[in-house]
Amino acid sequence: MNYLEASRRKAAELAKQEKVRILSLETSCDETAAAVIENGRVILGNVVFSQIDLHELYGGVVPEIASRAHMEACDRVIDQALREAGMKLEEIDALAVTRGPGLVGALLTGVNCMKGLAFAAGKPLVGVNHIEGHVSANYLSHPDLEPPFLCLVVSGGHSHLVEVEDYGVYRLIGQTADDAAGEAFDKAARVLGLPYPGGPRMDKLAEEGDPEAFTLPKPKTAGKYDYSFSGLKTAFINTVHGLEQRNEPLPKADLAASFRRAVCTELTEKADLLLKERKAGAFALAGGVSANRELRRMAEEMCRKRGVKLYMPEIPLCTDNGAMIGSAAYYRLMRGEVAGLELNAEPALRLV
Ligand code: KG4
Ligand code: ZN
Repeated sequence: MNYLEASRRKAAELAKQEKVRILSLETSCDETAAAVIENGRVILGNVVFSQIDLHELYGGVVPEIASRAHMEACDRVIDQALREAGMKLEEIDALAVTRGPGLVGALLTGVNCMKGLAFAAGKPLVGVNHIEGHVSANYLSHPDLEPPFLCLVVSGGHSHLVEVEDYGVYRLIGQTADDAAGEAFDKAARVLGLPYPGGPRMDKLAEEGDPEAFTLPKPKTAGKYDYSFSGLKTAFINTVHGLEQRNEPLPKADLAASFRRAVCTELTEKADLLLKERKAGAFALAGGVSANRELRRMAEEMCRKRGVKLYMPEIPLCTDNGAMIGSAAYYRLMRGEVAGLELNAEPALRLV
């Protein structure tokens, strides 16, 4: 029996088992992260090794440096996650790894690592979509959350409005025509001279500023649920350059607050329109930008007004982590969706 056939049989057995523990690995960008997750909902171990220090010097993620750092860190991070869970590899039921989207070299290190481990240990392997992982972070933070629900996925690479119809079943409602929200935050932060990654730093600085100090244009989009952040970003850059040319001091906190307000207003206005039209009972945030304080406040206000239950991952689960990959993998494993040894990195993988 070949590896894939054996994995399918094991997955069918695991679907009848009371407790299923998955060891997961995430290496799609600049975090080497591993976790041990029980039944898709309970975190037994969760270790995130951030490479920020390595990339800060360059003002962004350098793909080759990221791949090499993952190569060095994978083993250690996996060991730590198992130790945190108090488990040995033999006690793990299945393995999971992010297969895309992301940086190809970074993804390949993780996929290869987990393929080797799964084959050697004779355990099923699940290839996971990183964006599905972000959505699934909510299952870890909220034991009561079950599909269907509407979800705003906002990260460094994505700004999607999706309907989660069932576990692993998504319908795309809107997406960005250009920059993702996180990307826009990072680029705006760079103009203010803030170090990489700019998003969280903009957020912090914005807390001390006046969000009405600068007026930025409202983005125009073709679809009513679509986003666009590149015009907003350009207008922001022009505002900063204008101040610099006039030798005026940069009111950085006011600039950050005004930009944050413009991005979060755009994100929540489209989501609000959707909640109004769909009459959904539940709405979730996902992805790195869901850690944004203003976005969380605005989402709370929006859901309170609409009488919709709001779900947001706990802050450490908003940005990249291995736990969310282990959660997403569980529901795929239960449906028998296991990978063969030909599993490859898919840098441009889509959610739908
Ligand atoms: O989900 P994530 O960790 O990686 C991707 O899948 O892209 O998201 C990272 C993005 C970065 O652009 C980062 O600046 C942004 O999320 N981010 C934030 C905040 N925390 C992370 N943006 C705004 N406010 C934050 N608090
Ligand atoms: Zn991510």
